[in-house]
Amino acid sequence: MNKYAIILAAGKGTRMKSDRPKVLHEVAGKTMLAHVVSATSAVAPEKTIAIVGHGAADVLGTLPEHVAYVKQEEQLGTGHAVKIAEPLLKNLHGMTLVIAGDTPLIRPETLEELFAYHQAEKATATILTAIAEDPTGYGRIIREDGHVSKIVEQKDANDFEESVQEINTGTYIFDNRALFEALSNITTDNAQGEYYLTDVIEIFKDDAKKVSAFVLDDFNESIGVNDRVALSQAEKIMRDRINTKHMLNGVTLIDPETTYIDADVKIGEDSVIEPNVVIKGQTVISKGVHITSGSRIESSRLHHNTEVRNSTIEYSVLEPGANVGPYAHLRPETILHENVHIGNFVEVKASTLGVGTKAGHLTYIGNAMVGEHVNFGAGTITVNFDGVNKFKTEIEDYAFIGSNSSLIAPIAIGRNAITTAGSVITDDVHEDEMAFGRARQVNKVGRAKLMPSYHES
Ligand code: UD1
Ligand code: CA
Repeated sequence: MNKYAIILAAGKGTRMKSDRPKVLHEVAGKTMLAHVVSATSAVAPEKTIAIVGHGAADVLGTLPEHVAYVKQEEQLGTGHAVKIAEPLLKNLHGMTLVIAGDTPLIRPETLEELFAYHQAEKATATILTAIAEDPTGYGRIIREDGHVSKIVEQKDANDFEESVQEINTGTYIFDNRALFEALSNITTDNAQGEYYLTDVIEIFKDDAKKVSAFVLDDFNESIGVNDRVALSQAEKIMRDRINTKHMLNGVTLIDPETTYIDADVKIGEDSVIEPNVVIKGQTVISKGVHITSGSRIESSRLHHNTEVRNSTIEYSVLEPGANVGPYAHLRPETILHENVHIGNFVEVKASTLGVGTKAGHLTYIGNAMVGEHVNFGAGTITVNFDGVNKFKTEIEDYAFIGSNSSLIAPIAIGRNAITTAGSVITDDVHEDEMAFGRARQVNKVGRAKLMPSYHES
C-alpha cells in the first residue's frame, strides 16, 4: 500500500519565546524539523508534504527537494494544518503518516513498526502513544473497554482525563481518504478555539471505524518540544543515543556525559575522545584519531592517526598523521597535509600546509600556500591584511622561516630559502637565498652606565 507523509511545521512555538520558528531550533546540531524529515524519509513515502507557515521562508530554506510544502497562512490548529494538504493527497488510496515537526526523537524504526502495526490491525487510524510519568501538556488517550475512544487535550481535560498517563505523541497513521473525510467534520468547539486533528479519532469511533494505538516502550522517544526545558531534555536524550552509537561502533568516549557530538558526525574505529570535547556539524573523523579535552571541532575532516590536543578546528582538513595543539586554532579553509605539526598558540586560516611542515609556537599563518617540510620559527606572522584587502603568501618546500619573522604579503619565499630571525620581509626571497630584514646591531661600550637605572657593582 502507498505511503504518504504530512509533517506539521507551521506553528510559531510561542512557548519557546524565540524569534526563530520552533521547528528550526536545533537538537544535536540539527534542526528538529531535519530530524523529523530524516526519520520520515527513511520509510520512503511516495509523497512527503510539510505544512509551513510561521517563518515559512526560513523553514523552506532548510527542506530537502523531495519534500513538497503547503503554506498555512493562519495557524488555526493541527486539524486545519493537515486539511490544507488535501489538494495534494485527497483522492489517493494509501496510508498517511502525520507527524509533528517538534518531535525530534522519533526513530525511523518506530515509524516502520507503526506502519506495519497499522496494516496488521487493518485500522483506519493508528496513534503512536506513550506512557508518561508526567503527562502534563500532552493530549490524553481515553480508552473504553481497552479501545481508544478519543484524545482529550490538556486544556479540555476533566480530572479523570487529566490523571491518564497514556499520551498522544502527535504521530499517527491514517487511511488517507478517511482522514480527509473526517477532517471536514471537525470544529473549533474546544478550550483553545482551534481545529484539533485529534478530534478525528472520536469521529472514527462514532462511525464504527477501527482506531488502534501503538504504545512506545520508551516515553523519551516521544518528547514534544514546546519550550526550552523540553529542548534541553531532547538534547540530552539525543546525545546519549548518539554517544552510545559511536561507542558500539568502536569509538572510545572516556566520559560520554561530557562529550557533545552532533547528529551527523561520523567517527571511525579506535578513535579516542577525551572528556569535554565538542564535535559539530558535518565533521568526519577516520580511524585511530585522538582528541584531547577541551577541543572543539566543527565541520572538519580528520583523517586517520591525526591528533587534536585542546584546540579549536573549524571547516578544515587534517591529512593522515597531522597533529594540532595544544591551544591552536584552525580557522576555515585550512588544509594540513600529512604529518604537519601545528603547535602551541598557533592560528592558521585559509592556508594549505604541505607534508611535514611545522609551526610549533606562537604563529599566525593566513592566506598562505606553504610547501613541504617548511619550518616556521616561533612568532612568525604572515602580514596578510592592510586594513582593507587580504594578500597571499607563498612559501616553497624546505624554506626556513626564522623566529619572529614578519612576512609582508603579497610575498613569495623560494625553495630552501631562509629568512633570518627577527626579519621584516618585504621583498620576495628566491631559492637558496638567505634574507636579513633587520637593522644591524651596534654595541656601545660603557653606554649602559649613563642610564638612570644603572646599578653600581
Ligand atoms: C499536539 C496534540 C497533542 C499531542 C502533542 C504531542 C493536537 C490538538 N494536539 O499538541 O494531543 O499530545 O501534540 O506533542 O494536535 N502546527 C501547525 N499548524 C497549526 C498548529 C500546529 O503546523 O495551526 C504544528 C506545530 O508547528 C507543531 C505541531 O503542529 O509542529 C504540533 O503543534 P503544537 O501546538 O505543538 O501541539 P501541542 O499543543 O503540542
Ligand atoms: Ca507540541
